[in-house]
Amino acid sequence: MLTSTPFIPYAKQEITAEDVEAVASALSSPIITRGEKVLEFERELAAYTGAKYAVAFNSGTAALMAAYHAADIGSNTRVLTTPNTFVSTVGSAMLRKATPVFIDIERATGNIDLEALLLNLSRKTSRGKTVIVPVHYAGIAVDVQAIDAAIDEMDAMIIEDAAHAIGSKYKDGTMVGSCAYSHMAIFSFHPAKTITTGEGGCVTTNDEALAIKLKTFRNNGIENASSGMSPPMPWESHIDFLSGNYHLTEFQAALGLSQLKRIDSFIAKRKHLLATYHKLLDGVKHVQLLQPQNPDFVAPHLCVAHIDFTSLKTTRERVMNALKEKGIGTQYHYIPIYRQNFFTKEAGDISEYFPEMERHFAEGLSLPLHVALSESDVERVVKALKSCLKL
Ligand SMILES: Cc1ncc(COP(=O)(O)O)c(C=O)c1O
Repeated sequence: MLTSTPFIPYAKQEITAEDVEAVASALSSPIITRGEKVLEFERELAAYTGAKYAVAFNSGTAALMAAYHAADIGSNTRVLTTPNTFVSTVGSAMLRKATPVFIDIERATGNIDLEALLLNLSRKTSRGKTVIVPVHYAGIAVDVQAIDAAIDEMDAMIIEDAAHAIGSKYKDGTMVGSCAYSHMAIFSFHPAKTITTGEGGCVTTNDEALAIKLKTFRNNGIENASSGMSPPMPWESHIDFLSGNYHLTEFQAALGLSQLKRIDSFIAKRKHLLATYHKLLDGVKHVQLLQPQNPDFVAPHLCVAHIDFTSLKTTRERVMNALKEKGIGTQYHYIPIYRQNFFTKEAGDISEYFPEMERHFAEGLSLPLHVALSESDVERVVKALKSCLKL
């Protein structure tokens, strides 16, 4: 039975009158795509992250596809990444015939196990190119500096999947997306993320040649003014490869610019709500939130709890359904990629090699986290959770 109290979704965008005004104004401009707003959004994203270039796309997935194209990922490439991610981190590489190599995760953060990754990198391999794709799960930055140091001598690239992590910082306090230790970083502006453009994404980089490849990929492979190049004749265009149309519109960029103005307050609010969850759940038996080393450097995207459902004699499904009846939405992130049909039909069941990912899969639950929540909403969620777990 549904309660009369308002439903709390696990994620939700925050759209204000200023956002609506910014979109409306962009829509009444004569140019509604590939114009000044997109360029301004890209400049602002570059300034915010500290990277030289930001190239906007119509989704985080498109940004990944473009980054993998720019990195020339192909059938001779092994992509080292985490199984604890959204499908496109891996799928966009497999569509280019690359071989994914999964590394187990660490329990405290849900991120790739850095030691296991560095061990893998230290082994000589005769296979072609290596691309490492760390995913900053829930907004917790992977130590990309350590990965960068480990690949010093190798023909390898680092592409960060920072879809969860706009505004997060690395161990040394520099911004995720600055690409100080990587070749490229991708972001998503899906409504569940810290800032939104409806659908949208971007790639940041410090490398001009990569930025040009990204812009050309976005533009059906066409080298012209829309991909940031100036052919000798205004009507002229060159096409060296095929891709697709992945442009962000002017009105989406206007929404992104308007949201970006409030990013600091979004992050502060999310941090405060997550700290409240920590305070209320600290010491609760069989329930533990992720434990990043430096919470201050995390711009939190998800509030992930590990719940020992077995010891509590229940299941995730039962708890999610019971919470839904109490008007609370939850999610789980992520079913291990190696368990998905598109992977198992080629590779079979490899789950035994990933004990920590399997444990996370058995115990993970994402609790509501978004800026429209109040402290008392978080109290309501925790009270309901404890009651569903009979604690
Ligand atoms: C880790 C990760 N990578 C990539 C993406 C893809 O982003 P989008 O949904 O904008 O295509 C997402 C989005 O959910 C994500 O969470």
